[in-house]
Amino acid sequence: MASAALIRALLLALALGLAGAVDAKTAAAPAASAPAANPNEACLMCHGDASAKGASGKSIAVDAAAFAQSVHGEMHFECTACHTDTSADKLPHAEKLKPANCSGCHEDAVKKFTATAHGRALKEGKAAAASCTDCHGSHDIRRSKDPASKTAFANIEAACGACHGNDKLVQQAKLPGGNIQAKYHDSIHNRLLEGQGVYSARAPTCTSCHGTHDIQSKNAPDSRVARAHIPATCGSCHQRELTVFEKGRHGALLQSGVTVGPVCSDCHGAHSIQRASTPSWQNAVVGACGNCHDDFLASFRHTYHGKVTTLGFSEVATCASCHGAHDVRPASDPLSPIAPENRLQTCRTCHPKAGVQFASWDPHPRPKDKGRDLILYWTNIFMEVLLAGVFLFFGLHTVLWAYRSLKNRFGGGKSH
Ligand code: HEC
Ligand code: HEC
Ligand code: HEC
Ligand code: HEC
Ligand code: HEC
Ligand code: HEC
Ligand code: HEC
Ligand code: HEC
Ligand code: HEC
Ligand code: HEC
Ligand code: HEC
Repeated sequence: MASAALIRALLLALALGLAGAVDAKTAAAPAASAPAANPNEACLMCHGDASAKGASGKSIAVDAAAFAQSVHGEMHFECTACHTDTSADKLPHAEKLKPANCSGCHEDAVKKFTATAHGRALKEGKAAAASCTDCHGSHDIRRSKDPASKTAFANIEAACGACHGNDKLVQQAKLPGGNIQAKYHDSIHNRLLEGQGVYSARAPTCTSCHGTHDIQSKNAPDSRVARAHIPATCGSCHQRELTVFEKGRHGALLQSGVTVGPVCSDCHGAHSIQRASTPSWQNAVVGACGNCHDDFLASFRHTYHGKVTTLGFSEVATCASCHGAHDVRPASDPLSPIAPENRLQTCRTCHPKAGVQFASWDPHPRPKDKGRDLILYWTNIFMEVLLAGVFLFFGLHTVLWAYRSLKNRFGGGKSH
């Protein structure tokens, strides 16, 4: 173990020395230092051949040019910096080598990664989970700010999508959430990133919401996408909506530590987020409210507003038209648009000629509730009795009629 620590210390010194050397070189222009023999030549003698294959038939070719342009190649790293169980002096090397070692130099990244959803899954033997190389590459690793890097902002969707957008893998490895890239790809956020939107503001890619070396399952309490943290995650960009949300009943619930109230993704979704003006989405939100307020959804469906939204038109009132979207409040709150003193005003946004009488109309009729509206209760009973009576009468009529015509036909009577 002591020797491992020694090697690590040496490597670190080497890395720092090399990083320093790069700086010195750029500063001092092309000084006349004699080009040292490339220690990697020894390895590239065999691995530089593009058609080189191992015993299993797998390619063992290394693209020396791509490596030279990688962040490590630019620093003139030796192959042995990562392949720590090889040495240019001891060739040929063993047939089976250990996986490349990043931890000697990126201890912090490795430590953080081990605690992520991917890191834990790898440890549990789920080989399909992302490792350093899946996101960064191996011999072609570049700095994230380099546009050609796999982890450059614009390329992240593809890097994560290699697995979370790969239908075959999604099924085989039972990736949670299914094909997430497909959902995200059509969202307003990605359309903005692809420049088809009106705005050029920076919209989120996968890592903006999930993090990178701290990606966790939504079930982990410290995850950025755990229910309790979603408003803050979205609110890091949508501050205005977050502020309003926190003032309403739903936001207050969350702040008091109760997660039964809705968070942004319950109404907007997490990946397939649409423009809020999209009619199909506005109608879908009615269903989202109904997931928790099923009695109010049922009564809403009894009304003209509710019936028309069922048909797919969002121009009539949806829940949010009367209650607001982000700061819903009980009717007893004077700031609520449905508080008795504000109700007429709320109806008038769409019914400009509405009077006090009009606003007293019940938007949540419950015909079975005698205490709520006695007239509606008896009207409903009358209508139900009438309906049943009509069916009974004509049902009986039809049966007798059928009996009569059958009798006429087969009963020996004269038929016409
Ligand atoms: C004489 C030719 C030769 C030289 C020189 C050579 N290798 Fe290899 N290397 C091979 C062959 C052959 C394999 C395939 C082994 C197998 O899978 O059968 C291999 C495999 C590897 C692997 C993959 C091992 C694995 O388990 O999949 C790595 C990594 C590697 N070499 C690194 C190096 C490094 C670093 C150097 C220089 C220090 C080097 N090689 C020098 C021939 C060579
Ligand atoms: C920054 C670290 C790093 C450096 C430097 C590096 N490698 Fe690798 N190498 C990797 C990683 C990561 C893999 C992927 C497999 C693994 O995890 O071991 C890999 C895989 C390989 C393989 C197996 C075939 C393959 O492509 O999967 C060979 C052969 C190999 N490296 C040779 C070399 C040679 C030769 C050099 C020097 C020119 C070199 N490596 C430099 C990280 C490195
Ligand atoms: C799920 C994808 C993913 C995995 C797995 C991953 N990274 Fe990263 N890594 C990224 C992204 C994306 C960035 C860029 C972060 C940014 O721009 O803020 C990054 C940044 C980095 C950086 C530069 C910034 C820093 O934190 O120092 C290093 C070094 C790094 N990763 C090393 C590693 C190593 C080593 C591993 C394996 C232990 C690893 N990464 C695993 C996605 C990943
Ligand atoms: C011998 C030390 C060493 C080893 C081993 C090593 N790296 Fe690096 N790596 C560095 C140094 C030094 C830098 C440049 C850091 C800087 O300038 O900020 C770097 C840069 C990076 C960057 C770019 C960071 C950025 O600024 O965006 C990534 C990503 C990265 N390494 C990933 C890896 C991965 C993955 C492995 C293992 C396969 C690995 N490294 C192995 C030393 C090492
Ligand atoms: C090499 C394939 C691969 C890549 C690349 C990959 N992932 Fe994953 N990811 C997985 C697998 C497999 C799991 C499931 C782990 C498990 O079963 O616990 C997973 C799990 C997750 C989870 C946790 C899901 C949950 O609720 O349990 C999140 C979040 C996630 N990945 C996001 C990302 C992001 C963001 C990226 C890109 C930066 C990414 N992944 C790149 C394979 C990958
Ligand atoms: C705007 C923020 C945001 C973006 C961008 C985003 N996600 Fe998510 N993601 C979330 C939230 C919030 C959840 C939590 C669960 C939910 O409500 O579905 C989640 C859940 C997940 C899960 C777990 C799914 C489950 O049902 O357990 C995975 C895997 C995942 N995201 C991967 C990705 C990948 C890959 C990308 C990029 C293609 C991405 N996410 C982009 C916010 C985002
Ligand atoms: C209870 C459902 C619900 C929740 C929870 C919710 N929203 Fe909304 N959101 C809506 C509705 C409905 C609209 C459309 C409002 C309209 O048409 O006037 C909307 C509109 C928006 C808009 C468009 C601009 C605007 O204000 O009209 C953004 C951005 C937005 N929401 C972000 C968020 C964020 C961020 C969160 C979490 C902090 C969140 N929403 C929580 C239902 C919700
Ligand atoms: C990295 C910043 C960022 C994050 C994080 C983010 N968004 Fe956005 N979002 C944007 C930008 C930028 C727009 C486009 C704004 C515009 O065009 O008005 C947008 C647009 C939207 C819209 C459409 C707004 C409209 O005018 O109709 C909704 C809804 C939305 N985001 C919801 C969310 C939700 C929910 C989350 C969290 C799961 C989230 N966003 C996370 C940056 C972000
Ligand atoms: C995830 C579940 C959930 C969703 C989705 C949801 N709500 Fe709520 N809502 C609640 C809970 C829980 C309360 C608090 C009830 C209480 O205090 O008894 C609440 C309170 C309210 C209140 C205040 C009434 C009161 O009793 O405090 C109104 C109004 C309201 N919601 C309307 C809506 C509307 C409109 C939507 C859709 C745009 C919606 N809710 C979506 C869970 C939800
Ligand atoms: C036309 C306007 C309108 C529409 C549309 C509407 N509501 Fe209401 N809602 C009201 C009014 C007015 C009240 C207060 C009167 C009452 O107590 O019934 C109310 C009461 C409520 C309450 C109870 C508030 C409290 O303080 O007890 C909830 C919860 C609620 N509505 C949810 C919904 C949901 C969910 C939808 C959509 C499925 C919806 N509403 C659609 C006007 C509307
Ligand atoms: C978002 C707009 C909107 C809001 C807010 C709204 N309505 Fe409506 N409502 C409509 C539309 C559109 C119709 C279709 C008939 C029409 O144009 O008058 C309608 C129809 C009706 C009808 C049945 C048709 C009729 O004219 O007799 C009643 C009753 C009604 N609304 C009552 C209300 C009451 C009471 C409120 C306030 C609590 C309210 N509405 C709030 C848009 C709205």
